[in-house]
Amino acid sequence: MTVIAVVGTGRVGLGFAEAAVAAGHRVVLANSRGPETLAEAVDSLGGSAEADTVEGAAARADLVLLAVPLHSYGSLPASALEGRIVMDAGNYYTDWSGHIQLPIAGDDEAAKKAVAELIESIGFDAVDAGALREGWRFQRGTPAYVVPLGTAELVDALQRARRYRDMAIDDLTTERTHRLPGSGAQRPD
Ligand SMILES: NC(=O)c1ccc[n+]([C@@H]2O[C@H](COP(=O)([O-])OP(=O)(O)OC[C@H]3O[C@@H](n4cnc5c(N)ncnc54)[C@H](OP(=O)(O)O)[C@@H]3O)[C@@H](O)[C@H]2O)c1
Repeated sequence: MTVIAVVGTGRVGLGFAEAAVAAGHRVVLANSRGPETLAEAVDSLGGSAEADTVEGAAARADLVLLAVPLHSYGSLPASALEGRIVMDAGNYYTDWSGHIQLPIAGDDEAAKKAVAELIESIGFDAVDAGALREGWRFQRGTPAYVVPLGTAELVDALQRARRYRDMAIDDLTTERTHRLPGSGAQRPD
């Protein structure tokens, strides 16, 4: 049995903790808000889980899993992790780690500024996609729609967007060129 400190108990941390407990390991959960906020998570994992501070969890674990957003790394207690075996689940998703960009379009600069401030106040970054007539660039089905992207990727996705009418023409062409004459069979890609 291995004791694993799970630092960060979101989707990755808790998912990992469930698998670890199911495999017979013990987990010590930690987040930034303190062990008292983890009672429910501990209960859900049964008797093989406890909660502690990050320092406390790391001190008594054989292995440490870091499953925190990339922007939180700077606030982790580095000395508590020194000399420990640390598994880092973090992904660097270009520059959106920590902040997801949301496009906005509008004709009124003051209105856009107010909306951008609101977006930023709830934890996102606003990316100006231009005038209102450019709003179609992040409508449903475009590369920017719903996907979390960094600023550069979002700007690129907005530029690559195609109008529904152009998508429909391409889809029809693909449909035609992929159908073998005289049969219902599809041509292999
Ligand atoms: N390797 C992979 O396959 C894979 C897949 C998906 C995601 N990831 C990466 O895994 C990491 C976690 O993703 P997620 O989706 O699980 O995130 P999440 O659901 O947002 O959970 C993040 C957790 O980190 C905690 N946390 C934040 N700051 C902290 C700090 N300073 N000290 C301790 N705990 C802190 C949060 O709790 P509190 O806010 O309460 O502290 C929360 O429990 C990200 O870096 C993500 O990129 C990796």
